[in-house]
Amino acid sequence: MCGIVGYVGKRNAEDVIIEGLSKLEYRGYDSAGIAINQNKDTIAYAKKKGRLSILENFLKEMPLLGQVGIGHTRWATHGEPSDCNSHPHLNENGTIAVVHNGIIENYMEIKEMLIAEGYTFKSETDTEVIVHLLDKYYKGDLIEAVYTTIKQLRGAYALGVVAVNHPDELVAVRKESPLIVGLGDEEFFIASDVPAILKYTRKVYFLENGEVVHIKDHTIKVYDENKNKVDKEVKTIDWDIEAASKSGYDYFMLKEIYDQPQAIKDTLLRRLDKNRIIRLDDIRMTKEQLEDVGKVYIVACGTAYNAGLVGKYAIEKLAQIPVEVDIASEFRYSDPFIDEKTLLIVVSQSGETADTLAAMKLAKSKGARVLAITNVVGSSVAREATDVFYTWAGPEIAVASTKAYTAQLVAFYMIALDFALKRTTISSDKYNELIDKIESLSELVAQILDGKEAIRSIVKDIKDTKSAFYLGRGLDYMTAQEAALKLKEISYIYTEAFAAGELKHGTIALIEKGTPVFCVVTQDNLAEKMISNIKEVKARGAFVIAIAKSSNLEISKVADDTIYIPEADDLLMPILSTVPTQLVAYYASLERGNDVDKPRNLAKSVTVE
Ligand code: G6P
Repeated sequence: MCGIVGYVGKRNAEDVIIEGLSKLEYRGYDSAGIAINQNKDTIAYAKKKGRLSILENFLKEMPLLGQVGIGHTRWATHGEPSDCNSHPHLNENGTIAVVHNGIIENYMEIKEMLIAEGYTFKSETDTEVIVHLLDKYYKGDLIEAVYTTIKQLRGAYALGVVAVNHPDELVAVRKESPLIVGLGDEEFFIASDVPAILKYTRKVYFLENGEVVHIKDHTIKVYDENKNKVDKEVKTIDWDIEAASKSGYDYFMLKEIYDQPQAIKDTLLRRLDKNRIIRLDDIRMTKEQLEDVGKVYIVACGTAYNAGLVGKYAIEKLAQIPVEVDIASEFRYSDPFIDEKTLLIVVSQSGETADTLAAMKLAKSKGARVLAITNVVGSSVAREATDVFYTWAGPEIAVASTKAYTAQLVAFYMIALDFALKRTTISSDKYNELIDKIESLSELVAQILDGKEAIRSIVKDIKDTKSAFYLGRGLDYMTAQEAALKLKEISYIYTEAFAAGELKHGTIALIEKGTPVFCVVTQDNLAEKMISNIKEVKARGAFVIAIAKSSNLEISKVADDTIYIPEADDLLMPILSTVPTQLVAYYASLERGNDVDKPRNLAKSVTVE
């Protein structure tokens, strides 16, 4: 997803912007560009298709000196990745430059109008209409031109704007797309995300929708959409820049897999009081309000959706409330039944996923209460929600989500336990037993990680396969779905997950001699059924790799290979069974020579529909 960085201060803006953009690479991009206000007749700029390093090498030959500028990494939506479609975009005489993250939905009609007025377009992007509108409305006051322009725009946009007549100014806007402001000592930054500016400052403003930032004469002012001045609260980022770097691991994904014992601990322990009762400080639902809930939806995308599948299971089992789970992009257009008694739980690592945000806005407009599970403090999802549960997993940089997923599962277990306690559907003994068991998960995950070399050698045997399958029943089917997503997204091996009981209704036709079939077998009441399914696929030539509890000695007699994992309560097993599947995906990607952290065609944070 596109990334924006802007700078006004005394440093060389090019250095700050390129450094910042490199910290946003995790968002996924296909081209990069920069514009610097050099106090000349036109804005200097450079933009290149491909990795940021291509732009950097170009700038080594032709540096753009100056202390005010904007930069961008683009993830193509309108028009193919190319130098021309990359941002920044400039008006015809090169006096105004814009970077944009988001989508302008009415750009076609604006473009037609501008062409009729004599404007010519160089790119296929929606963004270019913005800079021509700025040109049209600019009458000497940049901020006025920005306000008039954004009134014409429909859609999502975070913008950074510079103009030759305003050599020490930068204007930024946030509407539905993320943007933060970094506050330094007589210097200011704008960025799509915190890691881009952490090297320079920890003090930030989180912008609200519709807010416009005006940096000028070493001061910063923030206005709302009606041009009223807003007094922003300065927030201090308390996580370390080290946490956003690889800490010695080859890839962010591996580091983040290894972060999991800590992330599980952080998410759980900081919320247990001295009597080991869960305190969910940002969830203000009373017992009475919970009793009043008629319907619960869990809505999310991708890995967060898979976490929701486990969440449904936990809430139904512990709190005895029926729950429906839906994909956000489906939910928002399905005319779902929502009223004031509906509780919508949204799950989003980034807190910025466009479909998830739209789903929650829809639910809110119909009177529902919204509880958000997110990893990013101050994110759009967090700010829109009535109640928030922050997973304290730390920043997740690899596109493939790992520690955010396991932290989301911990979140669901805690929410389910909290609801169960309030609804008195759990005994205090069972409650205490589960809290103890959740606490021990951190150590058990660490034990699984110790066995990573055995998993690597299993992966070496299957790395050249064209397709693979994951099978499971009950909660193991939930793990299978997340495991299949992980394997396919970074190894590019065609992988699907199936409910093992559905095998004979079609899936089994796909099994050929040597097809790797991963079978997740951690649910005691379903283990025997899974053994039958393993025999069925083996009889058709499958190469079966089981992921099973260490006590299940039968499994290794039927499977070709077994990854044994420690025991926990069956309800909690998805956290443990997922970890080996993350390593399977990681090593498969590595062995096949892929870019583990930045798989092709994917973005970390999907801020457009
Ligand atoms: C993208 C990411 C996934 C993530 C999904 C939802 O597809 O690549 O890893 O699960 O978006 O993102 P969210 O930030 O809402 O959890």
